[in-house]
Amino acid sequence: MTAMTGTVAAAGTVGASRTRMEGRAKVTGAARYAGEIPFADLAHGWLVASTIARGRVRSVESAPVLAMPGVLAVLHHQNAPRLEEFAGMLGPDPTIQILQNDRVPHVGWPVALVVAETSEQAREAADALVIRYDQEPHDIAFSAQHPGMYTPDDSPLLVTETGKGDIEAGLAASAVVVDEEYTTPEEHHNAMEPHAAMARWDSGRLEVVDSNQGPFAVAQDLAKMFSLDLASVRVRSEHVGGAFGSKGLTRPPVVLAVMAAIVTDRPVRVVLTRRQMFSVVGYRSPTAQRVRLGADTDGRLRAFDHQAASLTSTIHEFVESSAGIGRVMYDADAHHTSHRVVRLDVPTPSWMRAPGEAPGSFALESAIDELAHKCGMDPIALRARNEPAVGPVSGLPFSSRNVLGCFEEGARRFGWADRDPRPGAAREGRWLLGTGTAAATYPARVAPSTAAVTAEADGTFTVRITAVDLGTGARTALTQIAADALEVELDRIQVKIADSDFGQAMIAGGSMGTRSWALAITAAATELRAQLALPGDIPSDGITARSDTAEAIGALARQERHSFGAQFAEVAVDVTTGEVRVRRMLGIFAAGRVVNPLTARSQLIGGMTWGLSMALHEEAIRDQASGAHVNADLAGYHFASNADVPVIEVDWVDDPDTHDPTGIKGLGEIGIVGAAAAIANAVWHATGVRHRDLPIRPDRVLLAGSRGC
Ligand code: MOS
Repeated sequence: MTAMTGTVAAAGTVGASRTRMEGRAKVTGAARYAGEIPFADLAHGWLVASTIARGRVRSVESAPVLAMPGVLAVLHHQNAPRLEEFAGMLGPDPTIQILQNDRVPHVGWPVALVVAETSEQAREAADALVIRYDQEPHDIAFSAQHPGMYTPDDSPLLVTETGKGDIEAGLAASAVVVDEEYTTPEEHHNAMEPHAAMARWDSGRLEVVDSNQGPFAVAQDLAKMFSLDLASVRVRSEHVGGAFGSKGLTRPPVVLAVMAAIVTDRPVRVVLTRRQMFSVVGYRSPTAQRVRLGADTDGRLRAFDHQAASLTSTIHEFVESSAGIGRVMYDADAHHTSHRVVRLDVPTPSWMRAPGEAPGSFALESAIDELAHKCGMDPIALRARNEPAVGPVSGLPFSSRNVLGCFEEGARRFGWADRDPRPGAAREGRWLLGTGTAAATYPARVAPSTAAVTAEADGTFTVRITAVDLGTGARTALTQIAADALEVELDRIQVKIADSDFGQAMIAGGSMGTRSWALAITAAATELRAQLALPGDIPSDGITARSDTAEAIGALARQERHSFGAQFAEVAVDVTTGEVRVRRMLGIFAAGRVVNPLTARSQLIGGMTWGLSMALHEEAIRDQASGAHVNADLAGYHFASNADVPVIEVDWVDDPDTHDPTGIKGLGEIGIVGAAAAIANAVWHATGVRHRDLPIRPDRVLLAGSRGC
């Protein structure tokens, strides 16, 4: 155990913009992703997904397919290797207990894997494979009023309900009340790189190359599922082309690849199609959220109630924690937040960028805007009036909370003071113009990690940590952190990541990666420098110091620790077509110490772009009769493309935070939080019509316009 001592050197590379270490390799194609690394004797697996939404597999008619060119095997529930049921990072995960029984819980559930010499042969055989089902009636219709809605139990990731005071009395005593329902649709990650995995046996070890956010966690899961020693499993994920939570857990492709490698004794790769990604790697549940706010005429909240409903599958419980955001943002004497969920015959939802906060902030920050209008107050002034001194639910002090600093700086840059608060007041030909704002917040958490830092005999340093770079720039940020911790130039440091052999580390998720890994690297570097201070030469295999931050993290003070931000948007709404165009966005954040301004800015712009996309475009639609998506591809699933994205300006205010020696809070997710609400609030300001259902499609804008406002 290495003590977590010392601070990151102030005058080093942390805080300076650096281009990605692997940027050249990526743009020249030298960087290889899991689906494209060559292996000798590689066979290819093609997933066969169920076409029914509920029922049982009666038969898999393999024989004709096994006679097709190149086909090596057809795996299904009757012949696939048996899997141990195990508890992973978050407990048992039935979404990867695949090909174990005949049960079909949703359209797209893996029911077979065809393995062939080439990917084309596997695909053709998979298309030809006849599977017969015993179909049962299904239910995929989500609404907050669904009779199957229940209150889930608390879990390590979810506090189901919080409450203090008397909400009904608080609302009754309030001069101004907002009581509305907001909905968000099913949304998907759509990482550019589809999930892909290769598994092979190499000198008695299971070697896996997989696109994921946490190779060590995947190695642990695979070892348990396939009853192997952890030491005989190696998982690598050197380059990952986007993940957003969809790659945060062990997913079916890697399980199928391992099964196929066992059965065929060949290296086998499984790559998902875009369409398959809509069904087996998680998504954001649709939400229905009721927000009730009661305030005095001066905007001070008396009653705060946020009730969030979402869906999960029949096999696994995942709850989108949309009501969590008010536990941090706003206080009231009567304060209540709750989550309910319903089990439907659909795939299991999962983490998607800012799980909870993204849809929750749409509802809450829209409701706050509605309250401000009803109070006749500026929405920023109303937020300032309700700034809590301590965590509204926890009662804990904030490690730092500079949300008002974000609004102040944002308002100044955006020109908020010039705004005419009346809705529908600004018009430019057929365009109605409006501006809107919303608050953002995301937790700044941390988790234990291990790292090793080696002083090489040639004067360079090698850092080994099972971090993952999802395209975020993590590798570069960690090199900067190591350079400062060792007080050497960047070019003397090589950071090796994404190999489970390097040991336990936090996954690249929850906006926790950089901070968690920085603590471990800093601790190992500090230990190494102590060793190097002793007399003696560096042996040819170098001197290595290791760290494990579990104890140091356990000793951190209990505080409310979050990133904050203020989102601004200007929109133009075409009264003839109902089209909403975002003209500009501005996000100002207070996100602790920023390691690499270049890549930090791109993370925040990416999040805000996704918020725009969420506000105006994204929704996965299911056919009630079949239970299947009607738009499971990038043509039918609309999202913001270049022409939809205006200039997005991002900056941050100083946010010194001494909760730990890194001062890092993490900013991978906060960019999406509040962005959709800022746009919806701007659409209201432009048109006078409040859109409480996302996305704000042209038909909805026109319909609302034709009803008058
Ligand atoms: Mo992120 S949804 O924690 O990968």
